[in-house]
Amino acid sequence: MDLITPDKTHDEARQGEALMLDATMGKNNGRKLYIESYGCAMNFSDSEIVASILQEQGFETTKDYNNADVVFINTCSIRENAEQRVRNRLKEFTVAKVKNPGMVVGVLGCMAERLKSKFLEEEKLVDVVVGPDAYRDLPNLIDKVDGGQKAVNVLLSREETYADINPVRLNSNGINAFVSIMRGCDNMCSFCVVPFTRGRERSRDPHSIVKECTDLFNAGYREVTLLGQNVDSYKWAPQTTLPEGEGSEEQADKEVLPLGEDLGGVNFANLLEMVALINPDLRVRFSTSHPKDITDEVLETIAKYENICNYIHLPVQSGNSRVLELMNRTYDREWYMNRVDAIRRIIPGCAISTDIITGFCTETEEEHQDTLSMIDYVGYDYAYMFMYSERPGTLAAKRYADDIPEPVKNRRLKEVVEKQRHYSYVRLQEQIGKVQRVLIEGFSKKSDQDYCGRNDQNAMVVFPVGENYKPGQYVNVLVDRTTTATLLGSVVD
Ligand code: SAH
Ligand code: SF4
Ligand code: F3S
Repeated sequence: MDLITPDKTHDEARQGEALMLDATMGKNNGRKLYIESYGCAMNFSDSEIVASILQEQGFETTKDYNNADVVFINTCSIRENAEQRVRNRLKEFTVAKVKNPGMVVGVLGCMAERLKSKFLEEEKLVDVVVGPDAYRDLPNLIDKVDGGQKAVNVLLSREETYADINPVRLNSNGINAFVSIMRGCDNMCSFCVVPFTRGRERSRDPHSIVKECTDLFNAGYREVTLLGQNVDSYKWAPQTTLPEGEGSEEQADKEVLPLGEDLGGVNFANLLEMVALINPDLRVRFSTSHPKDITDEVLETIAKYENICNYIHLPVQSGNSRVLELMNRTYDREWYMNRVDAIRRIIPGCAISTDIITGFCTETEEEHQDTLSMIDYVGYDYAYMFMYSERPGTLAAKRYADDIPEPVKNRRLKEVVEKQRHYSYVRLQEQIGKVQRVLIEGFSKKSDQDYCGRNDQNAMVVFPVGENYKPGQYVNVLVDRTTTATLLGSVVD
């Protein structure tokens, strides 16, 4: 199951794939946990934190929710259909709950945060509703439900980064892992619920990030994907570590604990470098880059280290400056093109992917054409493309009418998808005849006669299994042909 492919960060195709806990649990409390995740990579990463917190409590795991004492669904609110999918899935848990009335059903994540206690009224099946910053409270909340009550904790935090929690790797192939480097978002793009569901942006202590990545490398992992909604605004100032649970400004004045003298402020470029230096055999990926914040310093750091992958997910959303302004993206068409030019100049051959929204409020046909011409300008390697979906409470929902009829949104989406399909294919074709350094991830989906793995640019490469190499190792693959989405070839060394 390809749960750890960073190019699928926002791909709803991943939604609905169950995450099962494979780790051997510590002290056993005789109860079984089942957890399933939807939405972006941050949610999948959070489920690993949840698993770790409950492992401490002695929960064993099950791959079958019918056998579970606690069933968690970690949810996404980004588009209406993401929420609908979760509601449909909850219905499927009803029979299990009727058979086992003691079963605790919990809703975690962004939908929990958005709907809060309303969830309990709307979905009678649900016993506990927990927002993304309240997972440390899960053991108490489960106790409360065991005591016959319903339980809700949707408090958002300005400090919580779960920095000290060692995530239980879920459904892991032992090679790629997600590492969360920050939480929340302060950008307030007008279409987006994330600032409401994830709260204020905060960066995680770089020491804890480097330690987690080092531990992963020592455990045999060979690729980490550093995660944040806007990784380029990662910022760790020295002396911001406060004693546990104390965050008021008064306390901050009195009780600041200095970090190591060696560590000044750390920005994203510095963090990338720190992680790259762990070992040249540890590949470093990251997502998501915000066009307004991605600096030449970040690009130069990517160019400097072989093991920082030449792949940038740079969501454009729209190619038109007026629409970008309504979206509150705080860059315009020219700025975005300038950043793409900088990538092409500083990291030749770097792959670029994007997110695009069609049919945003008041978008005209001409403005839609600007999105199409942006695709021509960049020639993206890959794109995640969506019709605009109005989300309650967002700035766009308050300020602008969702006035583009669905058939028009859909037709524009089709045009965008069609054009992008062409460039995705062209980018793959360009690799024919070239030798790619591939990190082997495992057998290909279609055959255990073939291995699959990704090249530096994040394209999937499939090649025959051989005696001299195995998953977790790097091989050089000469690409000789492609499918519509995959490079095919054979190992040359
Ligand atoms: N932090 C990332 C995006 C996270 S959400 C960034 O700033 O780029 C992932 C993608 O979902 C967004 O890039 C956007 O393209 C899409 N999206 C978000 N809200 C949406 C909405 N209301 N309707 C349609 N697509 C949306
Ligand atoms: Fe949403 Fe914008 Fe933040 Fe991305 S940067 S999570 S689109 S508000
Ligand atoms: Fe991610 Fe969906 Fe929340 S995209 S941050 S899980 S709304």
